[in-house]
Amino acid sequence: MDPFIRGLPKAELHLHLEGSLEPELIFAIAQRNGVSLPYASVDALRRAYSFTNLQSFLDIYYAGAGVLLHEQDFYDMTWAYLERAHAQGVRHTEVFFDPQTHTERGVAFEAVLDGIRRALSDARERFGLTSELILCFLRHLSAEAADATLTQALPYKDAFVAVGLDSSEVGHPPSKFQAVFRRALDVGLKTVAHAGEEGPPEYIWEALDLLQVSRIDHGVRCLEDPRLVARLVEEQVPLTVCPLSNVKLKVFERIEDHTLGRMLDAGLRATVNSDDPSYFGGYVAENYEAVAEGLGLSRARLVELARNSFHASFLSPAERERRLAELDAYLAQA
Ligand code: ADE
Ligand code: ZN
Repeated sequence: MDPFIRGLPKAELHLHLEGSLEPELIFAIAQRNGVSLPYASVDALRRAYSFTNLQSFLDIYYAGAGVLLHEQDFYDMTWAYLERAHAQGVRHTEVFFDPQTHTERGVAFEAVLDGIRRALSDARERFGLTSELILCFLRHLSAEAADATLTQALPYKDAFVAVGLDSSEVGHPPSKFQAVFRRALDVGLKTVAHAGEEGPPEYIWEALDLLQVSRIDHGVRCLEDPRLVARLVEEQVPLTVCPLSNVKLKVFERIEDHTLGRMLDAGLRATVNSDDPSYFGGYVAENYEAVAEGLGLSRARLVELARNSFHASFLSPAERERRLAELDAYLAQA
């Protein structure tokens, strides 16, 4: 790992906590919870991580998350991620979680939230690593189920900065969730949505116009629509790009085919993130390294990506300036 990349102060803005569960932790939690897994060993589970598309990944991702039952499980998952993030220069992180993946199995919403929040708070104290939490609705489930989840979350509204939209994209356009996103906006939450990962550019338009998102998660398919690119550039809408994820899920054949360089050249506010690092072969620094090597991105480009990550975050203006000053101080001594 290039020490410059590892130490580069950065924000991570597209990270699913359930996608940070390493196979070793899945097995350890399964054992202590008496949950049986359809894999004989850690290695057998890891060998199953060969995906053909988004759905083939999601099937395994939801199976892995099925071991999580107690508050401590959610703490351990979150803490393991935060330790890795801290070691890779992440100064601020805005993480997704999928409450429905757990409440559908009978786990209390509070157990999920409390475990995650306790770990985020410990990382703030121990590492100075700041964070925000984004509650995602599963788009393969109904709009009514998303609405019920928002109702369940509202007593803890101050714990979240935004709501998001993830899971199986194609066939579940943003328009399906317009009403629940309207409710979230009305109580002061921000909105983000996965769009243009496997789904068409129209889904990005819908996320902007119907869900009023502050950021697009992935968004790589925007390049198919020049009018859309012009708008994203004009409004400087951040895109949380996840290069290793895109290659593992066959959005691009090889890292060398990834369009991140073209996106930056077009003036898009792209950022680099890890998505589901335990499944896709790398945390955020490995993603920076992959595009540095695979696309030949210069150091100036990597710094631009790190700068974009703070600009695209939900940090207050004062906190953003503080983080950008840390970045400048790092560059001054690098
Ligand atoms: N859930 C976890 N990772 C995801 C991704 N890359 N796209 C959609 N839903 C997800
Ligand atoms: Zn994602």
